[in-house]
Amino acid sequence: MRHDTMQNTMLGLWEHSLGCALTSRLMAKRKGLKDYDDVYAAGLLHDIGKIILFLEFPKEYKETMNEAEFKEITIVEAERDHFVTNHADIGSWLAEKWLFPRNLIEVIKYHHKPHLSKNAPIETAIVHLADIFMRANGVGFAGDPFVPAVNPVAFETLKLSETDIKEILEEMEDSLEVTEELSL
Ligand SMILES: [Fe+2]
Ligand SMILES: [Fe+2]
Repeated sequence: MRHDTMQNTMLGLWEHSLGCALTSRLMAKRKGLKDYDDVYAAGLLHDIGKIILFLEFPKEYKETMNEAEFKEITIVEAERDHFVTNHADIGSWLAEKWLFPRNLIEVIKYHHKPHLSKNAPIETAIVHLADIFMRANGVGFAGDPFVPAVNPVAFETLKLSETDIKEILEEMEDSLEVTEELSL
């Protein structure tokens, strides 16, 4: 694979993850969580399974991303076709192996299925939502060009009003702008 393709994909994933981390922290603060920095870390690391897959199997992972785009399926579905498993499971296996904190493992494992989180439902719902906000706003690149639907359980868990969401999105844009300025 060409070096610049590899670099662009990694940069896209990094921007996606950083945006997700910033937005997750905003939401955690709004929900009054004391450990909002842990939620920031969870946002940053939620897609670590993608990095592992991409670094270990660059050619196959690129094909997986192409297939997602071509067949109009999500990256999770395309991963299942190519690797039998998906980045959330791989990320959580590694997180367990590296003895990450329990809540962090849980967010990584269930960020696409927040209704299954038993130990960290709020943190998982936050990262799930932040992930989708990033995709909807075109921040970075998550491996496929789609904006998946929000799992309704995430909204129920977080009990966010329309005003909350509007303010979160505004704050998110501000903090993303600041980050962009800093990285120039
Ligand atoms: Fe993901
Ligand atoms: Fe993501």
